[in-house]
Amino acid sequence: MCGIVGYIGSNEKKEILINGLKELEYRGYDSAGIAVLSAGELKTFRAVGKICNLENKCADFISKGFGIGIGHTRWATHGKPTEINAHPQIAHFSNVVHNGIIENYQEIKKDLEQKGHCFLSQTDTEVIVRLFEEFLKDTEDGFEAFRQTIATLRGAYAILLISVKYPDKIFYAKNGSPLIIAKGNDGVYFGSSDACVIGYADKVVYLKDGDVGCMDIHSFESLENIRPLEQNKAFAQKDGFRYFMEKEIYEQHKVLLETMMGRVNEDGVALESVPDGFFEGVDELIICACGTSYHAGMSGKYVLERIAKIRTNVVMASEFRYANSVMRKSEIFIVISQSGETADTLEALKLAKANGLKTLAICNVDNSSIVRESDAVILTRAGIEKGVASTKAFATQMMVLWMLGVYIATQKNLLNKNDLENQFTSMVRSVKATEVSPKLHERLKRLSKRYLHGHGFFFIGRDVFYPLALEGALKLKEVSYLHAEGYPSGEMKHGPIALADSLLFTIALVPRHLLGDKIKSNVEELSARDSTICVISSEEVETADDMVYIDPAQDYMEEFFSMMVALQLLALEVAIKLGNDVDMPRNLAKSVTVE
Ligand code: G6P
Repeated sequence: MCGIVGYIGSNEKKEILINGLKELEYRGYDSAGIAVLSAGELKTFRAVGKICNLENKCADFISKGFGIGIGHTRWATHGKPTEINAHPQIAHFSNVVHNGIIENYQEIKKDLEQKGHCFLSQTDTEVIVRLFEEFLKDTEDGFEAFRQTIATLRGAYAILLISVKYPDKIFYAKNGSPLIIAKGNDGVYFGSSDACVIGYADKVVYLKDGDVGCMDIHSFESLENIRPLEQNKAFAQKDGFRYFMEKEIYEQHKVLLETMMGRVNEDGVALESVPDGFFEGVDELIICACGTSYHAGMSGKYVLERIAKIRTNVVMASEFRYANSVMRKSEIFIVISQSGETADTLEALKLAKANGLKTLAICNVDNSSIVRESDAVILTRAGIEKGVASTKAFATQMMVLWMLGVYIATQKNLLNKNDLENQFTSMVRSVKATEVSPKLHERLKRLSKRYLHGHGFFFIGRDVFYPLALEGALKLKEVSYLHAEGYPSGEMKHGPIALADSLLFTIALVPRHLLGDKIKSNVEELSARDSTICVISSEEVETADDMVYIDPAQDYMEEFFSMMVALQLLALEVAIKLGNDVDMPRNLAKSVTVE
């Protein structure tokens, strides 16, 4: 996800901005830029790729004396990772950097184009700086123009804007994306995390959603909620969490909103990156992926078949490659990948293309090999995922598949207005359901110590909860090194139940809204054979040894997302209790670029 920095003061601005951006590298990015305004001159530098490319571009630039500056690392969401699309985005005499997504940018853009603005980039961000200059035509008051600009925007953002007309001020706004302001002896600093101001500042304000302001070198003290700044960098990068995996579990509700933003509302789903007519004449989908992405695909199958009534076949990339599978031109080949670099998935994609199939990538990394190779792309917008065990990427993949289901169903005229509204509200509730409640986390912390031994785990579920059980087992395996398997609960009696005894731990996913009673019967079968059973549900199951309660939900998708969080936290807490390196588990790699 993008990173923002800003500075007001008399020290070497370029250096402060670039050092700050380096501290934000961990968030992931594909281009970077800075703008410095000093002695009446505004200079902007941008470069694709690593920050060292940006450093090379501005190697000869120095700015002496007082000035202001903003900087940005961009993770592409609207428009390719090119220099023109990098931030700062530029208008005639102002520059802006922005994290997040402006949902209504197309409307604003159209309006501004009619007023004579000529857009240079493909970004949603450019509308901000052009809108600001447009409002300035009617007022001399920069802050007023900025406030009007912000009031026009819909979406999530952290914004810093500078203008030659106001050479000592940085305008800022926050809604949904993080932004801090900090103060040290040598000036005022901005950042999208406190990691980039540690070492420079000693006081900080964590801005709240809805904050809009105008800062100069003197106005920091007038802010509310000034706090001392934590000085531990590693801690700051993890936003205070013990592990990146934990942080990523906690940020799922935020990134899921980004996944949905600008693409879905009560009227349906719009996927601007999918060409019109892409699904015309298509009678089957093949979903191909590895690991966690494969599990998302498997859950997606149930959703796609149920909502869009389209036959969906899910294949493991490593198996598909050599299976000489029969492919038909009426199928679309969908690959799912967090990294976009997984060798097996990439090769499977090439194979499908060679067979003349249309291809679609659901991916988290723009410009990755898989994205470049595919005919169409839907980015998951989870931001960089650092924990090797995938969490938020899975959540966003699932959301994209759901949106795709609604999208295809709409094209086939399967949903009426009411259905579309229901789908949307269910999505919004599902996102909310991923917000980690302290009670749930505390419960799993306490419970985890009872599940550190035994001879194995079975995670069981039915329908969409079966792949979720597979994913729960995979999470536990990856970080705890305990043996765990996922199984469809109805299949237990066809063999695996032979393993049942008190040292076999069963984690049962018991939803209220989809086949709950069927799973309860399967739980009883296991309980009768003495397996130790932990049920994840919103309702008590009498035969359970332990209960993990999720909040009552209105439909099964909401339950899916709630249970997903419980499973992730269970794996995390067991691994922590066992003393494992949760973020870098043994033998595993985040991106597997070899066969
Ligand atoms: C590796 C990772 C897994 C991931 C799988 C697929 O094995 O350790 O967490 O699910 O690759 O990765 P992808 O980037 O294609 O989703």
